[in-house]
Amino acid sequence: MTVIDLRSDTVTQPTHGMRAAMAQAPLGDDVYGEDPTVNRLEGWLADRLGFAAALFVPTGTMSNLLGLMAHCERGDEYIVGQQAHTYKYEGGGAAVLGSIQPQPLENRADGSLDLDQVLQTIKPDDFHFARTRLLALENTMQGKVLPLSYLAAARAFTQQHGLALHLDGARLYNAAVKLGVDAREITQHFDSVSVCLSKGLGAPIGSVLCGSQAFIDKARRLRKMVGGGMRQAGMLAAAGLYALEHQVERLADDHANAAFLGSALTELGYSVEPVQTNMVYVHIGDRAQALKAFCAERGITLSAAPRLRMITHLDVSRQQLETVITAFADFSRT
Ligand SMILES: Cc1ncc(COP(=O)(O)O)c(C=O)c1O
Repeated sequence: MTVIDLRSDTVTQPTHGMRAAMAQAPLGDDVYGEDPTVNRLEGWLADRLGFAAALFVPTGTMSNLLGLMAHCERGDEYIVGQQAHTYKYEGGGAAVLGSIQPQPLENRADGSLDLDQVLQTIKPDDFHFARTRLLALENTMQGKVLPLSYLAAARAFTQQHGLALHLDGARLYNAAVKLGVDAREITQHFDSVSVCLSKGLGAPIGSVLCGSQAFIDKARRLRKMVGGGMRQAGMLAAAGLYALEHQVERLADDHANAAFLGSALTELGYSVEPVQTNMVYVHIGDRAQALKAFCAERGITLSAAPRLRMITHLDVSRQQLETVITAFADFSRT
């Protein structure tokens, strides 16, 4: 039985074309800066997203960590969403490894942070306080796309208040495809951006941090420090390049599939949040464990959460989603 895994868009297998690109990639030692494929990937993304430099790293967690540490010194502070991945799901790395104090703020329903509230949390220049240095946003945020007008307002706000602006763009391309704009329309507002290749783009591993040359030089030193300096990493970078060249436009299929799943489950009577990109949130309540077990017997892998997140990706077809919808219909009758 082929398993239909809706837990995350990180579960995808590399496509045949991607595997071929990986096998054929010219390689060198990237710690010496000599891997031509890593250099091509870094140059490609820096160029396309409008930055002077970029750095290939194994994970989004490391990319965000290096970004925060390159912006902030010990005793500095960053303002971040309470639900943001950097704050909630990265082991507190910025605090543990960077001695950077997080100042979390509840995200609004659309995924943004209220800039008036952000203003209230900026600390005065006084030795009692941590030094507020950075605002970190996430886009997409739980599948929601931050409006371009909000990004422009956040840029103006951070400039006015002397803060840097970082984007966790793990799903940057989902946001760009949804808005129908070049990704640069989003990234132009930020000092630094972390992009994941191993989410909807379908590469097996890898993220890229983009920023100014001085920022990336600092991040490169930090990458070595945390053990992220890889050698013939071009095999992995080749997968990322392949994804960027061949698997961006198809994100629209994932979005259409998610919308299809969301509306079918709504019709069945489930409480489904509005779907914007590739994430479908369904409120299952205390039947989450039962639903997970019920679906597992039918070859469908789900998380068990009262607010259940299902993510569409390149290894889930429309036909497989019909199977999922049938399972949910059967479950609602149990
Ligand atoms: C929004 C967001 N940022 C960052 C990450 C971290 O990526 P990684 O799992 O590669 O460390 C994830 C992972 O799911 C994510 O969803």
